[in-house]
Amino acid sequence: MPTDTPTHASDDHPHLTGMALLDEPAYNRGTAFTEAQRTALGLDGLLPPMVESLDQQVNRAYKAFRRKDDNLERHIYLRQLQDTNETLFYRLLLDHVEEMAPVVYTPTVGQACEQFSEIYRRPRGLFIPYPQRDKIAQMLRNRPHRDMAVSVVTDGERILGLGDQGVGGMSIPIGKLSLYTLIGGIPPEKTLPIVLDVGTNNEERLRDPEYLGWHHERIEDSAYYDFVDQFVQAVKKEFPETLLLQWEDFATKHARPLLERYQDQLLTFNDDIQGTAAVVLSCVLAGMTVAGKKLGEQDIIFLGAGSAATGVAGYLLAAMQDNGLSEKEARSRIFFVDINGVLHTGRTDLSDEQQAFAQPAERVASWPKTIRGHTGLADVISQSNPGVLIGLSTVAGAFTEDIVRALARKTERPLIFPLSNPTSRAEAKAEDLVRWTDGRALVATGSPFAPVEHEGRKVTIAQCNNVLIFPAVGLGLRASRARRVTDAMLIAAGRELARHSPALRDPTAALLPPLGELRDIAREVAFAVGREAQRAGVAPEVGSEDEFRVQIAVSQWAPSYPAAT
Ligand code: NAI
Repeated sequence: MPTDTPTHASDDHPHLTGMALLDEPAYNRGTAFTEAQRTALGLDGLLPPMVESLDQQVNRAYKAFRRKDDNLERHIYLRQLQDTNETLFYRLLLDHVEEMAPVVYTPTVGQACEQFSEIYRRPRGLFIPYPQRDKIAQMLRNRPHRDMAVSVVTDGERILGLGDQGVGGMSIPIGKLSLYTLIGGIPPEKTLPIVLDVGTNNEERLRDPEYLGWHHERIEDSAYYDFVDQFVQAVKKEFPETLLLQWEDFATKHARPLLERYQDQLLTFNDDIQGTAAVVLSCVLAGMTVAGKKLGEQDIIFLGAGSAATGVAGYLLAAMQDNGLSEKEARSRIFFVDINGVLHTGRTDLSDEQQAFAQPAERVASWPKTIRGHTGLADVISQSNPGVLIGLSTVAGAFTEDIVRALARKTERPLIFPLSNPTSRAEAKAEDLVRWTDGRALVATGSPFAPVEHEGRKVTIAQCNNVLIFPAVGLGLRASRARRVTDAMLIAAGRELARHSPALRDPTAALLPPLGELRDIAREVAFAVGREAQRAGVAPEVGSEDEFRVQIAVSQWAPSYPAAT
């Protein structure tokens, strides 16, 4: 299958010559320009005489990367390389993906957000500040390249676990789009990071004279929603309907309202809500297969009933219905426990989203209430038929030895996913889960955990990270020329990813594939996404399945220089 279709050459921009060409990261090849190209493109004298291959450039860049003392310095180095020569940047990343993805993206990107103003060097993406809201259309037109495929937008309010970073949030769309390119093969010059600068409530930033964002507290309520709407309407006018606009790291109070408002207006999705739900669904499906169970046969218990948990439950509910359960049956299989105990219809403190997952009050009325007078996690485990325990509660150590042993008495292969981030908030440590269940637990975590030694074998722990889903979804949307993102498309992505679980082939392997395999798997996931888009009528029909597979393969950009002309 042809996957390496080079589209990234100075030949695409014949008008760029001399320093202007060397300053353009999308087309610059640096020392790899051949002698003939140097003469033809006005580069003679501007480069040292040695002509390098891409491999030689990668070796040199890797050594420079290793010379840096810490991960933030390595992040700065890679960002500079990205702003100099994107082909080299992506080849380096591809060759060292396991080592470099955490430096380009989480966790190091968190530091890059916090120190954005100190480490800022060159422009990348678009900054759209509230005071300049009358110029949004002009700002969109000022983008560096015409033809865009994917834009990631943030307002910087809920950056990872770091809260409000204001304009510093820009590092997140930049990092995320790097992964869209690295894994999904979205050509780098077709990616557009955007930050909506609506101010910040971060006191430290507001007091800092060097903070590069708008020095103002956040605008709220209708002023906020009107501004976002001005932005979205300008995007719809300026770009074709095949531009994917991905919402990223918006505060919980804004994330779902914005998604609900715009998901039927343009090609858009929220990765924190939908990407998370898809990847956790994938972990559950893979784990169920390894456990020899079907989704819907056992109960699923969530600890924590926040936005992440209800989003995941929504996809599990849909997947159970796909498996033939009625909605009522599926709902009866999902239990939520929050700080006030099990969610039931008699509670008056629940949001609409939580009410939808509340069990009938009469069902749980007679259950034990051993946690401060409430029916807590241990009580629900004792009364139900659990197979899956998912932690999205932010409560470190909430999956105690007693809880885990009680669960492991009820099922042979319990799926236990402490997903709260960062590591200090995880509901349990991976090694404890393996030990307390005598190696029977199938574990996936939110933060990374080292492999666990158990009775002479090494158990690899899957990290339930959205990077397993969103780049592939981007590829599928681009290749299928979809006009809308539906939940069914994300669920199809989660199902397809589950089929590539290494644990299906080797029971001690992780539930999810390693980063190094994701580019290949992305094509399969993209196929599933695109087929669902076609089925739903939100993407044009393509000929045969084979033709669509070829379309996906040629859409997946790979970093290489086209043969010298
Ligand atoms: P949230 O603050 O909206 O929800 C937290 C929930 O936990 C609330 O329902 C709260 O009542 C419950 N809770 C708090 N203390 C509790 C206790 N002692 N016992 C039982 N329940 C308790 O937070 P959100 O956004 O839903 O995120 C939760 C966690 O999930 C975070 O740590 C976040 O980092 C993590 N997360 C992980 C993802 C992944 O692994 N891919 C994706 C999204 C979130």
